[in-house]
Amino acid sequence: MHAAVVTSFDTPPRYAEYPAPVAAEENENEMVVDVLAAGLHHLVRARANGTHYSSTETFPFVPGVDGVVRDQHGTLRYVALDDTVLGTFADQTVIDPRRSVVLPDDIDPVRIAAAMNPAMSSWVALRRRIAFQKGQRVLVLGATGSAGRMAVQIAKQFGASSVIAAGRNTSRLAALHELGADETVTFDLAHRAADVDVVLDYVWGEPSAQAMAAMISARRDRGAPLDWIQIGSIAGQTMPLQSALLRASQLQICGSGIGSVSPRGFLAELPEIAAAVHAGTIDVQARALPLAQISETWSAETDDRIVYVP
Ligand SMILES: NC(=O)c1ccc[n+]([C@@H]2O[C@H](COP(=O)([O-])OP(=O)(O)OC[C@H]3O[C@@H](n4cnc5c(N)ncnc54)[C@H](OP(=O)(O)O)[C@@H]3O)[C@@H](O)[C@H]2O)c1
Repeated sequence: MHAAVVTSFDTPPRYAEYPAPVAAEENENEMVVDVLAAGLHHLVRARANGTHYSSTETFPFVPGVDGVVRDQHGTLRYVALDDTVLGTFADQTVIDPRRSVVLPDDIDPVRIAAAMNPAMSSWVALRRRIAFQKGQRVLVLGATGSAGRMAVQIAKQFGASSVIAAGRNTSRLAALHELGADETVTFDLAHRAADVDVVLDYVWGEPSAQAMAAMISARRDRGAPLDWIQIGSIAGQTMPLQSALLRASQLQICGSGIGSVSPRGFLAELPEIAAAVHAGTIDVQARALPLAQISETWSAETDDRIVYVP
């Protein structure tokens, strides 16, 4: 079969021949499946270039952490793979069916493969990391990317009374009103979101440090809880945190991702997320590309989530 193959952290994957998988005999938790579509998410790139905390130096390996597959019975499934050297950027892969959800026959594999990873970032954070309640106010820091755009929509669908979208690109921010944002602000004006209850933070680094300081200084009720959920670090892996901010307010910082949410916790949310994407209640920007073009398109900058189709 063919697959995208990573042989070092310094070079993009190459489309090449790769041994076809064989499921272990008498193991009902291993199933060889055909891959229909797999998304090029930040996690995929970061594992392949060695910058993700879950990267391992085991070469060669096939990247791809999730995707839409067809099993031997013709059933469509969305699958999230555990750490493996055979990911979803291949004609075939091996899945544990317990880590998959069965999809209806009429789904669009590209749409599902594009949306599940960015959508689950805010969905799982709001469902599994805090006790989010209807009527709470939410700030999405870094709202113009795939995950941030979906966070705006998901927070609204979960009953947020208002959602403020923060980013650096004003034209992309303006487009978020159509998706449900009540207000949009550039990072330097984050103090306007001072009184929110929840922050979904995709940026970290300097923009988050400045926003946090400005918001807490401007907060009308410093005794009101402020749940700050760290989800992405697109602007920096670390950020300077003024100690006084933690003493002067009810700021509580937690993270949401692999590890802070158990595999079982992620899996439990997948059917509802897939149903919401399929029903069209989450807007998805996706671009399908042949897997054979992986080397040329691996670093492409596009607003659409790239989805490789073997
Ligand atoms: N923990 C989880 O469960 C989870 C799940 C999915 C994703 N994530 C993480 O969430 C983050 C966003 O993912 P995504 O899929 O939405 O990525 P994406 O679609 O590529 O969007 C990233 C956005 O970040 C903005 N950006 C880039 N560099 C920036 C900088 N230096 N300062 C401020 N903004 C910057 C860009 O906005 P503009 O160009 O419009 O300014 C871009 O639209 C990533 O770090 C990803 O790893 C986490």
